[in-house]
Amino acid sequence: MSRLAVYPGSFDPLTNGHMDVIRRAARIFRPLVVAVLRNPQKAGLFSVEERLDLIRKSVETMEGVEVDSFGGLLVDYVKERGGSRIVRGIRALSDFEYEFQMALMNRRLAPDIETVFLMAREEYTFLSSRLVREVALLGGALDDFVPPHIARLLHERVQS
Ligand code: PNS
Repeated sequence: MSRLAVYPGSFDPLTNGHMDVIRRAARIFRPLVVAVLRNPQKAGLFSVEERLDLIRKSVETMEGVEVDSFGGLLVDYVKERGGSRIVRGIRALSDFEYEFQMALMNRRLAPDIETVFLMAREEYTFLSSRLVREVALLGGALDDFVPPHIARLLHERVQS
């Protein structure tokens, strides 16, 4: 069976918490496909193409990590890629209900695909893309939260 796993998300933008999950997952699964959802209903701060570029630059030195985008059902994309694992990061108990619902829905849709949860480092428990966007909009420092090239683009984006 393929060891390909998909780590899906909005990644608007990718945070250091996501990076930590990617590093952990890449040690277990190969290849690990970081897959950005194309959601026509939600514009986002960064376009999907920008998010893909930002993630590619962040993982360029990591072996076995691919970056891609997908639309439609996640389980269909995982099957299309020939994989059977979905990776999701869990930060705190508050993530659990949403993640649990998604994992069970995906299992109902595709019983052969397993969702695997990985815990990010404790220091990232509070971190989310939404809060990073908010801190950027209000002019706060981003260095502890996202890779440097993402912090730069975030500052530029909110100033324009
Ligand atoms: O980073 P996010 O926004 O928490 O990621 C959510 C994501 C992309 C994993 C989820 O919205 C998703 O899988 N969307 C694809 C549509 C789908 O498959 N829905 C049914 C499963 S709940």
